[in-house]
Amino acid sequence: MAPVRVAGPEKRPEEVAAMFDGVARRYDLTNAVLSAGLDRTWRSATADALELRPGLRVLDLAAGTGTSSWAFAAHGASVVACDFSLGMLRVGRRRLRHRPAASGGGTVALVAGDGLALPFAEASFDRVTISFGLRNVVDVEACLAELARVTRPGGRLVVCEFSRPTWAPWRTVYMEYLMRALPGLARVVSSSPDAYVYLAESIRAWPDQPTLAGHIAGAGWTQVGWRNLTGGIVALHRAWRPA
Ligand SMILES: C[S@@+](CC[C@H](N)C(=O)[O-])C[C@H]1O[C@@H](n2cnc3c(N)ncnc32)[C@H](O)[C@@H]1O
Repeated sequence: MAPVRVAGPEKRPEEVAAMFDGVARRYDLTNAVLSAGLDRTWRSATADALELRPGLRVLDLAAGTGTSSWAFAAHGASVVACDFSLGMLRVGRRRLRHRPAASGGGTVALVAGDGLALPFAEASFDRVTISFGLRNVVDVEACLAELARVTRPGGRLVVCEFSRPTWAPWRTVYMEYLMRALPGLARVVSSSPDAYVYLAESIRAWPDQPTLAGHIAGAGWTQVGWRNLTGGIVALHRAWRPA
């Protein structure tokens, strides 16, 4: 498949889905290498921010291969992992065959769906979350509003996304890594290295923490706050659907 390289507001949904189909096979390995294993810490911080417990219904949107979904199910939650890349879901399905239930008793169900028109009824979930996915969605505010629609009143949103390191020297080091080292590393480990040029560009173009908080509030969420991880390389934004 020819590599698809898109970034910024001109990205098209079918190009985004095709790009993730192209990286699906080695997606989890590539993440682990490019983040030096930090992705595990970020996923576990996301699970903590969701304050999960057995019986909660959780939507993990843009779930990809479902890596975070399994971390959530380990807390006993019933997780729906939804994505529009069938290639990513296929990799997730293979994992599901080997592990039908999570260690904590929770479950993961894979569903194909678009974050801009979710195939779920209003107020279906106690928690909704999206990890490293919102940056790839064509209309960010529409997606945040759609997430609010399927969340029960009083339910919670957690967005885990790359963000802006707050300390200037750390930001410089990180930007150098993103723009220079990361594409080279991706050529060694990824099945579709061009997608990682997109990754670097899309992170650079992504709004900083306060701006994203404004988008979340603008989409109908309340009490929006955030916490930086790894000095702001990643931020966890948290908000509630008004009761
Ligand atoms: C970088 S991956 C993140 C996957 C996973 N959440 C993780 O943490 O590894 C981004 C995912 O967003 C999905 N995506 C982008 N736009 C989407 C949309 N509108 N609806 C559903 N999934 C979408 C892509 O297909 C891709 O699997």
